[in-house]
Amino acid sequence: MTNPLAPGSLAGRVALVTGSSRGIGADTARYLAEAGAAVVVNYRSKAPRAEKIVTEIESAGGRAIAVGADLTDAASVASMFERTVAELGPIDVLVLNASGGMESNMGEDYAMRLNRDAQLNVVEGALPHLADGARIVFVTSHQAHFIRTTPTMPEYEPVALSKRAGEDALRAKLPELEAAGVEFVVVSGDMIEGTITATLLERANPGAIAARKEDAGRLYNVSEFAAEVAAATVDPVPADHTRYVGDTSGFAPEG
Ligand SMILES: NC(=O)c1ccc[n+]([C@@H]2O[C@H](COP(=O)([O-])OP(=O)(O)OC[C@H]3O[C@@H](n4cnc5c(N)ncnc54)[C@H](OP(=O)(O)O)[C@@H]3O)[C@@H](O)[C@H]2O)c1
Repeated sequence: MTNPLAPGSLAGRVALVTGSSRGIGADTARYLAEAGAAVVVNYRSKAPRAEKIVTEIESAGGRAIAVGADLTDAASVASMFERTVAELGPIDVLVLNASGGMESNMGEDYAMRLNRDAQLNVVEGALPHLADGARIVFVTSHQAHFIRTTPTMPEYEPVALSKRAGEDALRAKLPELEAAGVEFVVVSGDMIEGTITATLLERANPGAIAARKEDAGRLYNVSEFAAEVAAATVDPVPADHTRYVGDTSGFAPEG
Protein backbone atom coordinates (compact mmCIF):
# COMPACT_ATOMS: atom_id res chain seq x y z
CA MET A 1 0.00 0.00 0.00
CA THR A 2 1.34 3.40 -0.84
CA ASN A 3 1.38 6.19 1.69
CA PRO A 4 -1.68 8.43 1.22
CA LEU A 5 0.23 11.34 2.74
CA ALA A 6 2.45 13.47 0.53
CA PRO A 7 6.16 13.50 1.42
CA GLY A 8 6.91 16.48 3.66
CA SER A 9 3.23 17.28 4.19
CA LEU A 10 3.60 16.75 7.96
CA ALA A 11 7.03 18.34 8.31
CA GLY A 12 7.31 20.10 11.65
CA ARG A 13 4.34 18.23 13.11
CA VAL A 14 4.33 15.86 16.07
CA ALA A 15 2.23 12.70 16.10
CA LEU A 16 1.62 10.18 18.87
CA VAL A 17 0.18 6.79 17.94
CA THR A 18 -0.91 4.65 20.88
CA GLY A 19 -0.16 0.93 20.55
CA SER A 20 2.17 1.35 17.59
CA SER A 21 4.66 -1.40 18.36
CA ARG A 22 2.87 -3.65 15.88
CA GLY A 23 -0.02 -4.05 13.46
CA ILE A 24 -2.15 -1.14 12.34
CA GLY A 25 -0.53 1.29 14.77
CA ALA A 26 2.98 0.50 13.54
CA ASP A 27 2.05 1.03 9.88
CA THR A 28 0.22 4.26 10.76
CA ALA A 29 3.34 5.51 12.58
CA ARG A 30 5.45 4.67 9.50
CA TYR A 31 3.13 6.60 7.17
CA LEU A 32 3.05 9.67 9.43
CA ALA A 33 6.84 9.61 9.79
CA GLU A 34 7.33 9.24 6.03
CA ALA A 35 5.22 12.37 5.60
CA GLY A 36 7.65 14.23 7.87
CA ALA A 37 6.02 14.07 11.31
CA ALA A 38 8.12 13.37 14.40
CA VAL A 39 6.39 10.30 15.78
CA VAL A 40 5.95 8.79 19.24
CA VAL A 41 5.74 5.00 18.98
CA ASN A 42 3.84 4.08 22.14
CA TYR A 43 3.83 0.51 23.40
CA ARG A 44 2.76 -1.28 26.56
CA SER A 45 5.25 -4.11 26.92
CA LYS A 46 6.96 -4.78 23.62
CA ALA A 47 9.90 -2.35 23.88
CA PRO A 48 12.17 -4.18 21.39
CA ARG A 49 9.41 -4.17 18.75
CA ALA A 50 8.75 -0.47 19.31
CA GLU A 51 12.50 0.28 19.09
CA LYS A 52 12.62 -1.65 15.82
CA ILE A 53 9.89 0.58 14.35
CA VAL A 54 11.83 3.65 15.52
CA THR A 55 15.04 2.34 13.89
CA GLU A 56 13.18 1.68 10.63
CA ILE A 57 11.75 5.21 10.65
CA GLU A 58 15.17 6.72 11.42
CA SER A 59 16.89 4.65 8.72
CA ALA A 60 14.37 6.05 6.23
CA GLY A 61 15.37 9.57 7.31
CA GLY A 62 12.48 10.17 9.72
CA ARG A 63 12.27 11.06 13.39
CA ALA A 64 10.68 8.92 16.10
CA ILE A 65 10.97 7.93 19.74
CA ALA A 66 9.58 4.86 21.50
CA VAL A 67 7.71 5.64 24.70
CA GLY A 68 6.41 2.84 26.91
CA ALA A 69 3.16 3.52 28.74
CA ASP A 70 0.40 1.20 29.87
CA LEU A 71 -2.61 3.32 28.98
CA THR A 72 -4.58 1.87 31.89
CA ASP A 73 -2.01 3.40 34.25
CA ALA A 74 -2.65 7.13 34.67
CA ALA A 75 0.86 7.87 35.93
CA SER A 76 2.51 6.26 32.91
CA VAL A 77 0.17 8.15 30.55
CA ALA A 78 1.13 11.43 32.24
CA SER A 79 4.83 10.70 31.87
CA MET A 80 4.32 9.69 28.21
CA PHE A 81 2.94 13.16 27.47
CA GLU A 82 5.63 14.91 29.50
CA ARG A 83 8.37 13.06 27.63
CA THR A 84 6.70 13.68 24.25
CA VAL A 85 6.46 17.41 24.78
CA ALA A 86 9.95 17.67 26.28
CA GLU A 87 11.57 15.78 23.39
CA LEU A 88 9.38 16.62 20.39
CA GLY A 89 7.06 19.50 21.34
CA PRO A 90 3.26 19.90 21.44
CA ILE A 91 1.23 17.17 19.75
CA ASP A 92 -0.53 17.88 16.44
CA VAL A 93 -1.91 14.41 15.80
CA LEU A 94 -3.04 11.91 18.44
CA VAL A 95 -4.06 8.51 17.08
CA LEU A 96 -5.96 6.40 19.63
CA ASN A 97 -5.13 3.02 18.14
CA ALA A 98 -4.23 0.85 21.15
CA SER A 99 -6.93 -1.61 22.01
CA GLY A 100 -7.35 -4.93 23.75
CA GLY A 101 -9.58 -7.00 25.96
CA MET A 102 -9.19 -10.50 24.58
CA GLU A 103 -6.03 -11.13 26.63
CA SER A 104 -6.36 -13.70 29.42
CA ASN A 105 -5.60 -12.96 33.10
CA MET A 106 -6.17 -9.20 32.85
CA GLY A 107 -9.32 -9.14 34.98
CA GLU A 108 -12.96 -9.09 34.00
CA ASP A 109 -13.22 -5.34 33.57
CA TYR A 110 -10.00 -4.96 31.56
CA ALA A 111 -11.73 -4.29 28.22
CA MET A 112 -13.71 -1.38 29.74
CA ARG A 113 -10.66 -0.09 31.58
CA LEU A 114 -8.57 -0.01 28.40
CA ASN A 115 -11.08 0.74 25.65
CA ARG A 116 -13.24 3.26 27.52
CA ASP A 117 -11.66 4.60 30.69
CA ALA A 118 -8.07 4.73 29.43
CA GLN A 119 -9.08 6.36 26.11
CA LEU A 120 -10.90 9.09 27.99
CA ASN A 121 -7.96 9.57 30.34
CA VAL A 122 -5.52 9.74 27.41
CA VAL A 123 -7.60 12.46 25.73
CA GLU A 124 -7.98 14.42 28.97
CA GLY A 125 -4.26 14.06 29.67
CA ALA A 126 -3.40 15.10 26.11
CA LEU A 127 -5.46 18.30 26.05
CA PRO A 128 -2.91 20.57 27.78
CA HIS A 129 -0.19 19.20 25.48
CA LEU A 130 -1.94 19.61 22.12
CA ALA A 131 -0.79 22.09 19.49
CA ASP A 132 -3.24 24.60 18.00
CA GLY A 133 -5.60 22.91 15.54
CA ALA A 134 -4.65 19.42 16.69
CA ARG A 135 -6.57 16.36 15.58
CA ILE A 136 -7.54 13.23 17.53
CA VAL A 137 -8.32 10.04 15.60
CA PHE A 138 -10.04 7.14 17.41
CA VAL A 139 -9.65 3.78 15.69
CA THR A 140 -12.41 1.19 15.98
CA SER A 141 -14.05 -1.69 14.17
CA HIS A 142 -17.45 -1.92 12.49
CA GLN A 143 -18.14 -4.83 14.87
CA ALA A 144 -17.72 -2.39 17.79
CA HIS A 145 -19.15 0.74 16.19
CA PHE A 146 -22.39 -1.05 15.26
CA ILE A 147 -22.59 -3.32 18.32
CA ARG A 148 -25.80 -1.70 19.53
CA THR A 149 -27.66 -2.77 16.37
CA THR A 150 -25.65 -5.69 14.97
CA PRO A 151 -24.51 -8.65 17.11
CA THR A 152 -20.95 -9.90 16.84
CA MET A 153 -19.03 -13.06 17.76
CA PRO A 154 -19.36 -13.85 21.49
CA GLU A 155 -15.57 -13.81 22.00
CA TYR A 156 -15.42 -10.23 20.69
CA GLU A 157 -18.57 -8.90 22.35
CA PRO A 158 -16.94 -7.53 25.54
CA VAL A 159 -14.33 -5.75 23.40
CA ALA A 160 -16.99 -4.40 21.03
CA LEU A 161 -19.13 -3.08 23.89
CA SER A 162 -16.13 -1.46 25.58
CA LYS A 163 -14.85 0.13 22.37
CA ARG A 164 -18.30 1.53 21.63
CA ALA A 165 -18.49 2.83 25.19
CA GLY A 166 -15.11 4.49 24.64
CA GLU A 167 -16.28 6.01 21.36
CA ASP A 168 -19.43 7.33 23.05
CA ALA A 169 -17.45 8.80 25.95
CA LEU A 170 -15.17 10.62 23.51
CA ARG A 171 -18.07 11.84 21.37
CA ALA A 172 -19.61 13.28 24.53
CA LYS A 173 -16.50 15.45 24.76
CA LEU A 174 -17.00 16.91 21.28
CA PRO A 175 -18.27 20.30 22.55
CA GLU A 176 -15.23 20.59 24.82
CA LEU A 177 -12.87 19.53 22.03
CA GLU A 178 -14.45 21.93 19.56
CA ALA A 179 -14.17 24.78 22.08
CA ALA A 180 -10.47 23.96 22.40
CA GLY A 181 -10.08 23.93 18.59
CA VAL A 182 -9.36 20.20 18.54
CA GLU A 183 -10.74 18.08 15.68
CA PHE A 184 -12.03 14.56 16.27
CA VAL A 185 -12.52 11.68 13.83
CA VAL A 186 -13.55 8.07 14.40
CA VAL A 187 -12.16 5.58 11.86
CA SER A 188 -14.25 2.40 11.72
CA GLY A 189 -13.09 -0.62 9.75
CA ASP A 190 -14.24 -4.15 9.10
CA MET A 191 -12.18 -7.16 10.27
CA ILE A 192 -8.61 -6.75 9.08
CA GLU A 193 -6.87 -9.75 7.57
CA GLY A 194 -3.61 -10.76 9.17
CA THR A 195 -4.18 -9.23 12.62
CA ILE A 196 -3.92 -11.06 15.92
CA THR A 197 -7.57 -10.24 16.71
CA ALA A 198 -8.78 -11.68 13.41
CA THR A 199 -6.61 -14.78 13.96
CA LEU A 200 -8.03 -15.32 17.47
CA LEU A 201 -11.61 -14.88 16.24
CA GLU A 202 -10.99 -17.27 13.33
CA ARG A 203 -9.59 -19.87 15.74
CA ALA A 204 -12.75 -19.67 17.88
CA ASN A 205 -15.07 -19.50 14.85
CA PRO A 206 -13.49 -21.42 11.96
CA GLY A 207 -14.54 -19.94 8.63
CA ALA A 208 -15.52 -16.56 10.11
CA ILE A 209 -12.98 -14.57 8.07
CA ALA A 210 -13.90 -16.27 4.80
CA ALA A 211 -17.61 -15.70 5.51
CA ARG A 212 -17.07 -12.04 6.36
CA LYS A 213 -14.93 -11.63 3.25
CA GLU A 214 -17.67 -13.06 1.07
CA ASP A 215 -20.32 -10.81 2.64
CA ALA A 216 -18.15 -7.69 2.46
CA GLY A 217 -16.74 -8.36 -1.01
CA ARG A 218 -13.21 -7.81 0.32
CA LEU A 219 -11.39 -7.20 3.57
CA TYR A 220 -8.61 -4.66 4.07
CA ASN A 221 -5.18 -5.78 5.20
CA VAL A 222 -3.10 -4.06 7.90
CA SER A 223 -1.23 -1.63 5.67
CA GLU A 224 -4.36 -0.70 3.69
CA PHE A 225 -6.34 0.06 6.85
CA ALA A 226 -3.40 1.95 8.37
CA ALA A 227 -3.32 4.09 5.22
CA GLU A 228 -6.95 5.03 5.91
CA VAL A 229 -6.09 5.91 9.50
CA ALA A 230 -3.18 8.04 8.30
CA ALA A 231 -5.42 9.77 5.73
CA ALA A 232 -7.95 10.48 8.48
CA THR A 233 -5.33 12.57 10.29
CA VAL A 234 -5.41 15.16 7.48
CA ASP A 235 -8.55 14.72 5.35
CA PRO A 236 -11.57 16.94 5.97
CA VAL A 237 -13.52 15.76 9.04
CA PRO A 238 -16.78 14.02 7.98
CA ALA A 239 -19.96 15.75 9.21
CA ASP A 240 -20.74 12.89 11.61
CA HIS A 241 -17.06 12.62 12.64
CA THR A 242 -16.95 9.05 11.27
CA ARG A 243 -14.81 7.67 8.47
CA TYR A 244 -16.05 4.24 7.40
CA VAL A 245 -13.49 1.95 5.81
CA GLY A 246 -14.82 -0.95 3.77
CA ASP A 247 -18.32 -2.28 3.35
CA THR A 248 -20.89 -1.42 6.04
CA SER A 249 -23.92 -2.93 4.32
CA GLY A 250 -24.06 -5.91 6.70
CA PHE A 251 -24.35 -3.59 9.70
CA ALA A 252 -27.66 -2.06 10.71
CA PRO A 253 -27.52 1.70 11.14
CA GLU A 254 -28.80 3.09 14.42
CA GLY A 255 -32.42 4.20 14.22
N1 LIG B 1 -7.76 -6.36 14.08
C1 LIG B 1 -8.83 -6.06 13.36
O1 LIG B 1 -9.39 -6.89 12.64
C2 LIG B 1 -9.36 -4.65 13.43
C3 LIG B 1 -10.45 -4.29 12.64
C4 LIG B 1 -10.95 -2.99 12.68
C5 LIG B 1 -10.38 -2.08 13.57
N2 LIG B 1 -9.33 -2.45 14.35
C6 LIG B 1 -8.79 -1.48 15.30
O2 LIG B 1 -7.45 -1.16 14.95
C7 LIG B 1 -6.70 -0.87 16.13
C8 LIG B 1 -5.43 -1.70 16.16
O3 LIG B 1 -5.76 -3.05 16.05
P1 LIG B 1 -4.65 -4.17 15.89
O4 LIG B 1 -5.39 -5.41 15.50
O5 LIG B 1 -3.51 -3.68 15.06
O6 LIG B 1 -4.18 -4.32 17.42
P2 LIG B 1 -3.11 -5.27 18.07
O7 LIG B 1 -2.32 -6.04 17.05
O8 LIG B 1 -3.82 -6.06 19.10
O9 LIG B 1 -2.11 -4.21 18.72
C9 LIG B 1 -2.50 -3.56 19.85
C10 LIG B 1 -1.47 -2.52 20.20
O10 LIG B 1 -1.98 -1.88 21.34
C11 LIG B 1 -1.01 -1.94 22.35
N3 LIG B 1 -1.65 -2.05 23.65
C12 LIG B 1 -2.47 -3.02 24.10
N4 LIG B 1 -2.84 -2.77 25.36
C13 LIG B 1 -2.22 -1.61 25.71
C14 LIG B 1 -2.16 -0.83 26.91
N5 LIG B 1 -2.82 -1.21 28.00
N6 LIG B 1 -1.41 0.29 26.90
C15 LIG B 1 -0.71 0.66 25.80
N7 LIG B 1 -0.73 -0.03 24.65
C16 LIG B 1 -1.46 -1.15 24.62
C17 LIG B 1 -0.13 -3.13 22.05
O11 LIG B 1 1.16 -2.93 22.65
P3 LIG B 1 2.08 -4.16 23.16
O12 LIG B 1 2.26 -5.07 21.97
O13 LIG B 1 3.35 -3.51 23.61
O14 LIG B 1 1.32 -4.85 24.25
C18 LIG B 1 -0.11 -3.10 20.53
O15 LIG B 1 0.90 -2.23 20.07
C19 LIG B 1 -7.65 -1.15 17.30
O16 LIG B 1 -8.20 0.05 17.78
C20 LIG B 1 -8.71 -2.04 16.70
O17 LIG B 1 -9.95 -1.93 17.35
C21 LIG B 1 -8.80 -3.71 14.30
